[in-house]
Amino acid sequence: MPQLSNSLHVRDVASLVHPQTNLRKHVEIGPRIFTRGDGIYIEDDSGKRFLEGAAGLWCASLGFGNERLAKVAYDQMKDIGYYHIYRHASHGPAIELAEKLLEIAPVPMSKVLFQCSGSEANDTAIKLVWYYWNAVGKPQKRKIIARMASYHGSTCASVSLTGKPDMHADFNLPFQGFLHTEFPHYYRLAKDGETEEQYSTRMAAALEDLIQKEGPETIAAFWAEPVMGAGGAVLPPAGYFKKIQAVLKKYDILFVADEVICGFGRTGNVWGSQTFGLEPDMISCAKGLSAGLAPISALLINERVFQAMLSESDKQGSFAHGYTYAGHPVTSAVALETLKIYEELDIVGHVKRMEKPFLAGLHGLRDHPLIGSAEGVGLIGGIEIVQDKKSRAAFPADKQIPNKIDAKIRENGVILRLIGNRIAFSPPLIINESEIEEMFSRVKAALDGFR
Ligand SMILES: Cc1ncc(COP(=O)(O)O)c(C=O)c1O
Repeated sequence: MPQLSNSLHVRDVASLVHPQTNLRKHVEIGPRIFTRGDGIYIEDDSGKRFLEGAAGLWCASLGFGNERLAKVAYDQMKDIGYYHIYRHASHGPAIELAEKLLEIAPVPMSKVLFQCSGSEANDTAIKLVWYYWNAVGKPQKRKIIARMASYHGSTCASVSLTGKPDMHADFNLPFQGFLHTEFPHYYRLAKDGETEEQYSTRMAAALEDLIQKEGPETIAAFWAEPVMGAGGAVLPPAGYFKKIQAVLKKYDILFVADEVICGFGRTGNVWGSQTFGLEPDMISCAKGLSAGLAPISALLINERVFQAMLSESDKQGSFAHGYTYAGHPVTSAVALETLKIYEELDIVGHVKRMEKPFLAGLHGLRDHPLIGSAEGVGLIGGIEIVQDKKSRAAFPADKQIPNKIDAKIRENGVILRLIGNRIAFSPPLIINESEIEEMFSRVKAALDGFR
């Protein structure tokens, strides 16, 4: 165990539990400790430098280290440091951030609730879905539909939305009443000869079948990410959201868009909802909201939902929900400044300009014998590793080929996100054209070296 000779490595293994990590393996191999970052690069304690093509966990939109945001946090900590927004208390940063989010929302939104993470934003939305249907006198509308392979968080309720069986196993989850419809992964799951539109029609029919089977009067809400990030950076097939939303409207089902990854420029518009024509009742967002530099999330709700909350508040005496750190002045100020920086940099315009070289690099990998598909939008994309391009067959799982390819890519100085047989790209949004070229040429060299 050579890595464990360094004392921080030993202390890590002795003290820390790492999320989404094979704990047994971690005890054996120890951590990789990152020490500093600049721009889109990050360095570990051996001095190895990586181009961070995953923006950490899809969030470091402005790259690593940021003097200006550090100054804003420092000033805010000095001025007030902490105050809450319970029981009519308020402060400037939370108000200004809420106003800004409403101004840039993709569809008319009425109010904003703050939390510290994407999971909590979705958790809050789940509670508001139930609150809404109780307020309007339809308490039997309780079941929530998300999609298989979706990711919506790790708290008990948000992981119940999540469509990943490994995240439920032995945690006694999901909770009852959380249902999962088809994973709309055209490349992997479409039938031979089926067009994207035909496939989307089949996906919408599957949703309608599930609603019918469960009883439309029991279905409260539907959840979707515009691009399915932790599902493998999977794009919606053509016509998907139009057809899905028609079904939701038909049965009066609330629609929650999970913009935790897609929000704030990732898909080439401020919101993924704009890129793919979503008209949600609520939007959860986090990550890019503070460029990953402060733990903050927001839930935007429309007037329909807010009116129901008002009447519940009348009935119950107050809106009995909240978090100590909701709308925290430091994280709110950092988020507000982040949104200002995005505007100054014209980050959405930049992503639109970078989309062309990014997609050219991504699509260039399609010719590689190990890659079955490669598609993306804005600055998010995924490739699928296959053993046989023609049949689309994956490698036998025990061979661990995707893990080995991912390790090779790291060895070549690029960090990406491995998800099953897929590898996702989501570089910091500030990436430039030559860095995009560098990322793909390093990835290609790793793949070539693997043959
Ligand atoms: C789409 C989506 N929703 C929710 C979450 C959960 O966010 P958090 O890890 O901040 O709780 C994530 C995290 O990756 C995500 O990708």
